[in-house]
Amino acid sequence: MGEEQSHTEPLRAPAGTHDVLWPESARWEVLVGEFARRARLAGFGLVVSPMFEDAALFRRGIGGESDVVRKEMYEFADRGGRDVALRPEGTASIVRAFVQHRPPVPWKAWYATPAFRYERPQAGRYKQHHQLGVEVLGTDDPDVDVEVVALAAGLYEWLGLRQVDLTVNSMGCAACRGAYVEVLRAYLEQHRSELCDEHRERFSVNPLRVLDCKRPACRAVIEGAPRITDHLDDACAAHLERVRQGLDTLGIVHRLEPRLVRGLDYYTRTTFEFAALSLDAAQNAVGGGGRYDGLAEALGGPPTPGIGFGIGIERLLLACDAEGVFPLSPPAPDAFVVDLTGGTHALALVDELRRAGLAAVRSYDDRSPRAQFKQADRSGARYALVVGPDEAARGIVTVRPMRHDGDQEPVERDAVVRWLVQATDGTGSTG
Ligand code: HAM
Repeated sequence: MGEEQSHTEPLRAPAGTHDVLWPESARWEVLVGEFARRARLAGFGLVVSPMFEDAALFRRGIGGESDVVRKEMYEFADRGGRDVALRPEGTASIVRAFVQHRPPVPWKAWYATPAFRYERPQAGRYKQHHQLGVEVLGTDDPDVDVEVVALAAGLYEWLGLRQVDLTVNSMGCAACRGAYVEVLRAYLEQHRSELCDEHRERFSVNPLRVLDCKRPACRAVIEGAPRITDHLDDACAAHLERVRQGLDTLGIVHRLEPRLVRGLDYYTRTTFEFAALSLDAAQNAVGGGGRYDGLAEALGGPPTPGIGFGIGIERLLLACDAEGVFPLSPPAPDAFVVDLTGGTHALALVDELRRAGLAAVRSYDDRSPRAQFKQADRSGARYALVVGPDEAARGIVTVRPMRHDGDQEPVERDAVVRWLVQATDGTGSTG
């Protein structure tokens, strides 16, 4: 147990977690909104599922031997003694929900969720990160694989990212993957002494994990390892070929990478990863996914193929910063109401403006005229609407443009909302 901090010492968010504050959060709003829009256009609906589950779900789904489950899962007994875990990723919960509710297939779900992994925090690697993702259940049509990859690729393109590298692989089906794992195990056995400390002991449990090892010792051995693409059966090879052709049809540039094994054990057939070349290679994956045709069955459901991806929001924004795209542009209000009569006019006027769909702000605490105008200026508002004693007596509002040249003018109090709707073209607060 950590020591309780004293009452006076300010508490801080845990290491490896982040508060996303305004105005940075404006980028999150826009990003999630755009992802939702694109997902909807592609036939996906939002699914919200619990952020914690029975830990057994992740052990069975992701694999008890994966690093994510073995080393990184936030697993604990709750007050009722149940073994639960915070979700380390989104797929297992979505497939669990599918198995539980049996919606008609193909079932296309999108989500935006925090994910928790006990990792050593560093740039782009956090204990809580956030993912945008989709999952499609109920079809193994390779066109779906292409659509899913295209949805992710389209988002990077929309953001303006140019240095994103897409690699694709196939993990084969249960049969050919199983045969390949045996070939790989035999190869690793021969090279056992050259492997890194961890894998010298553990390679046999899940030889595929070694292909994912970043340590130089293992990297050297992996160079010469047999490739899964040479061991695919005819159906899996044809599936991969069809996916690649589909990507070509849509003009999605990609590279076959037979050593791409992703960190979660549920994958079969198509796997893919998007790497931001502008980021440090150790954590430059800005998205990844693949098929998991055996997962629904492993979770007690009917045999149901599936595919999806997850995109890390934080890393995506880091990549945007590195490439100088998707800059921060917090929406400014349409109007700042300056009330020099005590605040009652401001109270009513901002309410009317907001009802009309305009973004309207004001100051509080009956601040001095100088302070209010300063705040109006800082807010970036397009117009200041001023109500002083004189305006109040005459039943008018003085409208002062703040972001373009132009004279201030008196507008009838009753007409000012309509006036502003017209002046802002009804574009609301995006101007
Ligand atoms: P994943 O590759 O483990 O896949 O994670 C997806 C993305 O989340 C990564 O590409 C990365 O951008 C981000 N990410 C992962 N871990 C961290 C971390 N510790 N800190 C910051 N960002 C991170 C999955 O989670 C699968 N559920 C994807 C999927 C969906 N496969 C099929 N359907």
